[in-house]
Amino acid sequence: KKSQAWSALFSEPMSELVKRYTASVDFDKRLWKADIAGSLAHAEMLAAQGVIGAQDLADIQRGMAQIKGEIEAGSFEWKLDLEDVHLNIEARLTTLVGDAGKRLHTGRSRNDQVATDVRLWLRDEIDSLAPLLADMQKSLVDVAEKNVDTILPGFTHMQVAQPVSFAHHLLAYVEMFKRDAERLADVRKRVNQLPLGAAALAGTSYPLDRERVAKTLGFDGACQNSLDAVSDRDFALEFTAFASIAMVHVSRLAEEIVLWMSQNFSFIDLADRYCTGSSIMPQKRNPDVAELARGKSGRVVGHLMGLITLMKGQPLTYNKDNQEDKEPLFDTVDTLRDTLRIMAEMVGGITVKKDAMERAALRGYATATDLADYLVKKGLPFRDAHEVVAHAVKTAIAQGKDLSELPLATLQGFNATITDDVFGVLSLAGSLNARQVLGGTAPVQVRAQIARHRQRLG
Ligand code: ARG
Repeated sequence: KKSQAWSALFSEPMSELVKRYTASVDFDKRLWKADIAGSLAHAEMLAAQGVIGAQDLADIQRGMAQIKGEIEAGSFEWKLDLEDVHLNIEARLTTLVGDAGKRLHTGRSRNDQVATDVRLWLRDEIDSLAPLLADMQKSLVDVAEKNVDTILPGFTHMQVAQPVSFAHHLLAYVEMFKRDAERLADVRKRVNQLPLGAAALAGTSYPLDRERVAKTLGFDGACQNSLDAVSDRDFALEFTAFASIAMVHVSRLAEEIVLWMSQNFSFIDLADRYCTGSSIMPQKRNPDVAELARGKSGRVVGHLMGLITLMKGQPLTYNKDNQEDKEPLFDTVDTLRDTLRIMAEMVGGITVKKDAMERAALRGYATATDLADYLVKKGLPFRDAHEVVAHAVKTAIAQGKDLSELPLATLQGFNATITDDVFGVLSLAGSLNARQVLGGTAPVQVRAQIARHRQRLG
């Protein structure tokens, strides 16, 4: 008795090595729910169109219900001989219900079947990832809300630049994750199109109602070109691109957490439950979670490279290459999901060391720009003001003092227009308050940002 779905033409069995090399059931069995849903929608439509009988449909439904039970109970026997999830389920169906099972594949090919399964699966994953991006944002907004007046030295080139509200800094990440959520919603539109009905590549001679199947499965529409329907994996590339960008955002945040927790910064502390120790150095508490999140961004970006390279040389239409789309896609979803969950949780529990941040902000002449702006208001052209302040900073460095610690007389030596009100300008709070521009770090602006995010995130 032949074991393969196509073997009448073949004069010898497939080599064992080829069997193992070409089989995908070990990983694509993960698609079983989508595969059954797709088959049931197809069968209902075939019956409605009179392609199969009402009894066939009833048999298929009964068989699929049993298969679902078996898979859920763990008693379903997945066979490598049957290559993939599709053939495994179809073979079991035929064992259970006979001829009706053999009629299921009418007007269908595994080429449109697998494309449908992956899209259905990915759509559901997208719907479970979207709330995690929202949770990540909420977690950041929660910490931001408590730290509007916490002052962090803002860096450019990793050198102290200007003081910023710590909340403002965290809200920058909220903007990133907001864009990620928008990208994900946009990807979903193109994922949610039905390939089924394209059959192997050219469409089918049976009177299929593709719109009906699309509706049953919750797709927004049906792919409009059968060749494209079976060969397109743009939706997977786009999703992986979205995931790579989101993971890069996570990675940058993770990197800052690692830095902030280092003794040389000491800006934050992480709860013990997110840290690990060292087997040799008794004093160690390491931010392993943040480091791993940073590291795992590499593997997701790698999956994007893998998938895009997988597609680049493929002639139309379906090629077996496409079987390689699944593992990277699955791992991308799993990695992103775990990473978003753990990072949102960890960020929500950070301890902010306000005083240390503020002390650091006082160290690098972060308000030098404020002094230049002050002189501009007194009538100096900005370039001249910049030069005056450079001299003042040089003197302050030589004396080991902050600008605000120089006596008024010394400051007036750099420019006579300087008066007593300069000290308000040189303070960290004064510097923040001055940046009232839309999107600036002034506490009023930061509170307005928080209110906008709260409104949006609910
Ligand atoms: N396991 C295959 C895949 O993942 C299913 C489609 C196979 N189609 C074919 N004509 N061999 O792509």
